[in-house]
Amino acid sequence: MLKGKHIILGITGSIAAFKSAVLCRLLVSAGAEVKVVMTPLAKQFITPLTMATLSQHPILVDFFNPENGEWNSHVKLGEWADLYLIAPATANTMAKMSAGVADNLLLTTYLSARCPVAVAPAMDLDMYAHVATQRNMEQLREDGVHIIEPGSGFLASGLVGKGRMAEPEQIVAAVEHIFSEKKKSLEGKHFLVTAGATIEAIDPVRFISNHSSGKMGYAIAESLAERGAEVTLVSGRTALAAPRNVRRIDVLSAEQMWQECVARFGECDGAVMCAAVADYTPAVVAEHKLKKGDGDMKIELRRTKDIAATLGADKGGRLLVGFAMETECEMEHAEQKLQRKNFDFIVLNSLREAGAGFRGDTNVVTLIDKQGSESLPLMTKREVADRIVDKIENLLTK
Ligand code: PMT
Repeated sequence: MLKGKHIILGITGSIAAFKSAVLCRLLVSAGAEVKVVMTPLAKQFITPLTMATLSQHPILVDFFNPENGEWNSHVKLGEWADLYLIAPATANTMAKMSAGVADNLLLTTYLSARCPVAVAPAMDLDMYAHVATQRNMEQLREDGVHIIEPGSGFLASGLVGKGRMAEPEQIVAAVEHIFSEKKKSLEGKHFLVTAGATIEAIDPVRFISNHSSGKMGYAIAESLAERGAEVTLVSGRTALAAPRNVRRIDVLSAEQMWQECVARFGECDGAVMCAAVADYTPAVVAEHKLKKGDGDMKIELRRTKDIAATLGADKGGRLLVGFAMETECEMEHAEQKLQRKNFDFIVLNSLREAGAGFRGDTNVVTLIDKQGSESLPLMTKREVADRIVDKIENLLTK
């Protein structure tokens, strides 16, 4: 569940910071990418070197690097993250968060974060029980911050009581729970997804097709379903199994895919057109296997119907997302398709990029809408799918 997730781990000045090392390692081993932000005081409790080694990223403490003046952008950091986890969170930091104080990078990042935020408080039992701390925590809860409750036991002060930061394994479980909650954000929505390659028969044994494996479209269907959407996947030929909780309808030709999509789009809130659909199909399908002669052979092709353009022309308030598979003049061609097919946004992938396109498990895409474009680095197809679904989610809640 944490694979490919971007997590900012915020560390504040508490003796429990030693557990942040284990926490970081657990998150990284679960597949998350972790960037660590520390308050200046936290450096007294655990070294930046330890955290940089475990997270495989430089540690961020100050607004800029005093050596070269390079700016540590809390805004970019806040946009990058899928979750901001502050563990340990001191009484002081929680008080500042609840009041909107922004006097260090960890706090400015909190104010810039668009993602869910979780805190794992750690402090002495009297500080924890104090009415001011409880009031601040209540405020944070009201602000939507997830509080990962501390445990009871021996405290650094020698006292015994509630205030010990939750154990790293418990924090990871809480983080997974937060992601699973987030994933239900599309409950009540119905999406149509097309995936895979169409098959255009020439005769009973031969056909025209392309290299699509269906992996990209299936990852999108899976991501939508995990967030609670009802998903109908109209699938061309692929060797993949249907993702969990997805209704799959198998088709072969572009014409069959057109019929299934047109019949179902009306009951949907949106559609993602990821299939590689044939633009041409044999004008006549031979009843029997064509026999070879001595000379060359010509096959007459006729245009197929453009499924995306048909849905785009009658989309009403629905959301329509398209793909563009290009090999030259990529942006220009993708922008033309965005307009022509009336997409809300289009996902461009180019065969000129290593790791992009057909068959593999990765892709390199640019998300383009009427406002501009966002280029994503090389990612797994599932990560790309999550980014596409994030954008869908944002557009639906606008
Ligand atoms: O399946 P994989 O191996 O994982 O590979 C993924 C992929 C490369 C197939 C995928 O990322 C992708 O780019 N899919 C779209 C491929 C394509 O046909 O692009 P296009 O530029 O020709 O078509 C533009 C858009 O119109 C697409 O959304 C396409 O689904 C749609 N279209 C095209 C023709 C047609 N007759 N009907 C359509 O709906």
